[in-house]
Amino acid sequence: MASSEPSTAQVHKGLEGVVAGETAISDVDGQRCQLIYRGYHLDELVGKATYEEVSYLLLFGALPTRSQLKEWTDQLEASRSLEPQVLALLQSLPATANPMALLRTVISALGLYDEETDEEPIEATRRKAVRAIAKTPTIVAAVGRLQGRASVVAPKAGLGHAASFLYMLHGRVPTDEQARALDAYFVLLADHGFNASTFTARVVTGTKSDFYSAITAAIGSLKGPLHGAANRKAMEMLEEIGTPDRVESYVQKTLADHKRFMGFGHRVYKGPDPRAKHLKECAKRLGETNGELKWFAISERLQDAVWNAKKLYINVDFYSASLLHYLSLPTELFTTMFACARMAGWSAHVIEQASDNRLIRPLAQYVGPRDLHFVPIDQRTTAAAK
Ligand code: CMC
Repeated sequence: MASSEPSTAQVHKGLEGVVAGETAISDVDGQRCQLIYRGYHLDELVGKATYEEVSYLLLFGALPTRSQLKEWTDQLEASRSLEPQVLALLQSLPATANPMALLRTVISALGLYDEETDEEPIEATRRKAVRAIAKTPTIVAAVGRLQGRASVVAPKAGLGHAASFLYMLHGRVPTDEQARALDAYFVLLADHGFNASTFTARVVTGTKSDFYSAITAAIGSLKGPLHGAANRKAMEMLEEIGTPDRVESYVQKTLADHKRFMGFGHRVYKGPDPRAKHLKECAKRLGETNGELKWFAISERLQDAVWNAKKLYINVDFYSASLLHYLSLPTELFTTMFACARMAGWSAHVIEQASDNRLIRPLAQYVGPRDLHFVPIDQRTTAAAK
């Protein structure tokens, strides 16, 4: 039975250091600065496994055989198109709205048209996951097209997950290098332990709510600048700096203004973010191919300057910015790219939470007043109101 005495338990603000559950999906090892997906060190997968293989790995627990991969990619390809009602809804929304808000709304709407929305069995949730993973890039590309006042491009058969997105956004089949770079980005951001958005999805799933509610809530969580929107803010920072020779003065001003460097720092990693070096490599290669290394040069100089000034490591969002920019993505879309990648991880976590569920319900330390007496409305003063 709950005690009426005020609690004196230790409060872990932001749940820092709290182990809130078990997972076999990914391990974020902050001390060794390693990220493991289902037993595979990230370095084992990047450049070798496609996002299709990694999403299968996260959802099913093992890398697919050739025939399993074929079945999986066929399912994804068959699920890419949006229902006409969903597309019509997107077209009726304000095109200039925050793309994450648009994605959140449209993912929520997907649930209205999915006949299995309230089906609980894990197999039904896996089918919903396929549809959500497949349709998210279609939604994001449509958002990008509508924001650029262009007509929406339907998915094209025979393209992989990353190439298909670039095709739908730009209206042309990407080069192999561009498709590979985006595929690597998707692999690198596919999952990351109990990060804020994944934890959000698990909390919603813990109430036995439905898949689409969990994913919609996760998107809301990812939208924040301390989480997914840091990639967009990092690009805006690079644009504000403008040229490599302005990096040091920008750093001094940011420090003087007590502002944050976007794409730097991490709650869990005590050293380099293991994803960052891969993203840096991809960004550099794309910059070289594009013949425009300016954004990479500003980034590299900023990485050094912030390290020298504050000993902060870059995180996943830092080189994501120049990488996505070199793929000709509008900056406003960056955070939705994070969502495309993380859709696999969120789905896997929803399934894992549902498979061994316990309602997630922490305690709070109450720090407000006690033993107040009711004051009739005519006797209340404004001073009493907080
Ligand atoms: N720029 C400047 N100072 C920073 C930064 C930063 N990016 N990150 C941490 N610090 C400083 C902070 O000011 C504080 O210094 P002091 O103790 O002197 O006040 C100290 O480091 C600890 O900061 P904190 O906010 O307590 O650390 P945290 O573990 O809560 O923060 C973080 C983690 C990611 C929220 C933070 O590093 C941050 O705000 N980074 C910028 C936003 C960002 O890049 N977010 C993406 C995170 S990784 C991908 C993802 O999850 O989406």
